[in-house]
Amino acid sequence: MVKKIILDCDPGHDDALALTMAVASPKIELLAVTTSAGNQTPDKTLNNAMRMLTLLHREDIPVAQGNQTPLVKPLETAPEVHGKTGLDGADLPEPDFAVQEIPAIELIAKTLRESSDKVTLVVTGPMTNAALFLRVYPDLAKEKIDQIVFMGGAMGLGNWRPSVEFNIFVDPEAAKIVMNFGIPLVMAPLNVTHKAQILKNEIEEIGKINNPVAHAFYGLLNFFEQYHENPKWGLKGAPLHDPCTIAWLIDPEMFETDWMNVDVETQGDLTRGETVCDYYLLTGKPANTEVLLGIDREKFIKLIMDTMKSFN
Ligand code: RIB
Ligand code: CA
Repeated sequence: MVKKIILDCDPGHDDALALTMAVASPKIELLAVTTSAGNQTPDKTLNNAMRMLTLLHREDIPVAQGNQTPLVKPLETAPEVHGKTGLDGADLPEPDFAVQEIPAIELIAKTLRESSDKVTLVVTGPMTNAALFLRVYPDLAKEKIDQIVFMGGAMGLGNWRPSVEFNIFVDPEAAKIVMNFGIPLVMAPLNVTHKAQILKNEIEEIGKINNPVAHAFYGLLNFFEQYHENPKWGLKGAPLHDPCTIAWLIDPEMFETDWMNVDVETQGDLTRGETVCDYYLLTGKPANTEVLLGIDREKFIKLIMDTMKSFN
């Protein structure tokens, strides 16, 4: 059965790869793309999503812009990771189609109303748009969203504060709304995404694939990998965070998972944005989240290589 999805993202190099994997997979129908502020400012993440869909020749997929800021605190972006444009490292085409005139939550609502089947909401950036949608259209969400699959959070070490991952850091209040809404959740935390690394020699393999999409990702992944060379991360390559969500939808067997309650700390001075994962079932709170913890990296990389080759 083809999975119908809406992708809410903040491209961002790994968001761009997740988007490309969704477009390329026969197992996924990408109904709409909405953009959030996170890796870069809202206008840049919107422009990046549209440039990617132009590169992929998928201007038929509607795109709408979402939040300008997080719900409570000012926006914090990540230019040190994704560069000035948010997608540094490749010459991408300018968008050759128009953005939807409606905001993200209205495109999500329209898409859900028009779909005869339930839809999976995939979130690969801060959860602001998802939270706003759930607050404005709770009944439509319960009726037409079957699950929310998101990259974010960590069970333990963070990447933006000691115990806080970037997406949740940017908008913890939004994440708390989503985590406690009641729609089943699938979470790809840093615990799995730091195992989902692409190595430099594998990026070189992509460079040998002769089509414009692979050429673009050769540049994008080489740029993205640079930030992660700092030995403090203990990584051998670039962690492909957001693609884990799409890989799970395409082939869940690729992952080891565990169900548990996940909630978000929003008050702590040191821990605001920490995802609190009840791995040992200590709270008695409902297991609302399937957490991805292990990955078959070889299978994951093969999926990415096959995705690149599919544009030949
Ligand atoms: O912490 C990694 C997450 O933050 C990824 O989604 C990346 O794109 C950035 O948004
Ligand atoms: Ca992202």
